[in-house]
This record gives sequence, C-alpha cells and structure tokens, in this order.
Amino acid sequence: MASQGTNDPSVQEYYTSAESRLGYAVLLGNARHCGFWPKGTWWPFPIGRAQRVMEEKLYQRLDLPKDSLVLDAGAGSGLVAAYMAKQGLRVHAIDLTPLHVEQATNNIESWGLSDRVSVQLGDYHDLSGFEDDSFDGIYTMETFVHADDPVKVLRNFYRLLRPGGVLVLHEADFHWDSEVLQEVLRLSHCQNTLKEGSYEEMLGEVGFGHTTIDDMTDNVLPLWRLFGIIGAVPYEILKLCGQQHRFINIMAGVEAYRNWGQGRYISVRATKPKGPG
Ligand SMILES: C[S@@+](CC[C@H](N)C(=O)[O-])C[C@H]1O[C@@H](n2cnc3c(N)ncnc32)[C@H](O)[C@@H]1O
Repeated sequence: MASQGTNDPSVQEYYTSAESRLGYAVLLGNARHCGFWPKGTWWPFPIGRAQRVMEEKLYQRLDLPKDSLVLDAGAGSGLVAAYMAKQGLRVHAIDLTPLHVEQATNNIESWGLSDRVSVQLGDYHDLSGFEDDSFDGIYTMETFVHADDPVKVLRNFYRLLRPGGVLVLHEADFHWDSEVLQEVLRLSHCQNTLKEGSYEEMLGEVGFGHTTIDDMTDNVLPLWRLFGIIGAVPYEILKLCGQQHRFINIMAGVEAYRNWGQGRYISVRATKPKGPG
C-alpha cells in the first residue's frame, strides 16, 4: 500500500482543485491523457487530434472484435470510452471522482452513446460488484499510477476478464527519485509501490501471460515540452513566493520536462490465459 501522509491530497481533491479543472478543460479538452505524435514533432497543435490518435493506439492494442464488452477503469469525462464505443465496442466506464462521473454521464448522453456506454462511480480497488469472467477487455488510460495497491487492482482485473481476455494499460512508468519529483508524485496522489520496469513482474505474479510493452515516451514528449515551456515563468514566480506546491500541475509539467528521461510512457498489453492458471 502507498504510504500516503494524512495531509496528502486524495485523488478526488487533486482532480477537483480549481487548477486541475481549469488546466484540463483549457489545455486538454477534458480528455485527461496525453496525445500521440510522430517522433520528432515540435508543433503539438491541435492537441485533441493527437489525443484521438492515442485513443486509436489503445483501441488497436485491445484488438477485440466489434461488440466486445470492455471495462474503462478510471474513465474521467468519458472521452476514451466514447472513442471505443464509436469503434464498435461496448463499454462500462467507472471512475472514483464524482465530478468526472457526472461529466462522463452527461457527455455520453449528449453524444447519443448511452446504448453503448454505461457509466458508474467506482473504485478499481474494489470491483466486487462485477462477476468473474464478465469482460472481454479492460483498459486504463493514465490512471493506474494513482493505484494505492497496484497488485490488488491487477488481481481484480484478472478476475473480471474472461479466459483469453485482454488488458491494456497506457501509463507512465516512473523512476522519479529526486526529491522534487517525489513531491510531485505525492501531491498528485501517485505515490505507490510502482518502480520502473515492475509491470511485467506484477502481471506475471497475478497470472497474466503474453505481456508486451510498447514504449511511447518519444511520442508524448511534444505535450510535456509544451507544459515545460508555458509553465516555466509562472513556476519560477510561484517558487519565489514559495507557492509552487499549490499549483501541482504547473510544478509537474515543468519538472517532468526538465527531468525528461527519468521514466517512460508505455502501453502494456497482457492476456488472461485460456487454460487453467
Ligand atoms: C488522468 S485521469 C484519466 C481519465 C481518462 N482515462 C482519460 O484518459 O481522460 C485519471 C482518472 O482516474 C480516476 N481514478 C483514480 N483512481 C481511481 C480509482 N481507484 N478507481 C477509479 N478511478 C480512479 C480519476 O478520478 C481520474 O478521472
């Protein structure tokens, strides 16, 4: 389990802060995930187009036939679920933050996708309300880093997947050892036991097979470079006033870019074996 201090923000506190709400809405169109750009890209706009490319990458990694049922664990405002539904999948979306569940519910309804996507408040640490072997696929888009107990979450995913079912995780894989980066992780509720390279080990421990990892670090760099550039001056001013900790997204954006290379962005794919075990 994560050793969260009592004053560390919860997931909900982090996402409902004014800074997070404004930042995600203005910069990322409320899709709370990176875009995917060709390596070497400098101009990141339009960001939304690159985010759709990232969603397409995830869809391709799932590689499931039309009408397959998938769980979107940590669905945010429902944009990824909507993309999957438009490709023909049926999606059950859960999220821990009530504000995001409300946004996702409204979005899915207004986009006319309610027949393909259902949305519910839920914590992927406790999926006891779902039956064994009930999903063809499960995915996370940039949320597993918040898990307090990653192995427990993977065990839950394993139980819910039918034999032969697919798990895809699009996540950061950190080795952020410096004090300031540890601070960023703590303030954004990402302080768990994950260490770079631990995904294969954890998935194997839980029983998953055929794990493949696609390194997309260079493909997400354009967004982090943008954060690093536009956040630099505000961050220095905040530091002069000793207020940088109150603006965790600015701090994260600038420090992640300045320390680029201390971690990866990866797409992890694994399957639940068809036979026993
Ligand atoms: C960076 S956002 C990504 C949202 C969405 N996947 C996307 O790409 O737009 C992370 C999301 O995970 C949710 N989350 C964090 N911990 C969770 C948990 N234990 N169970 C379910 N959702 C969780 C947060 O509320 C947030 O909506």
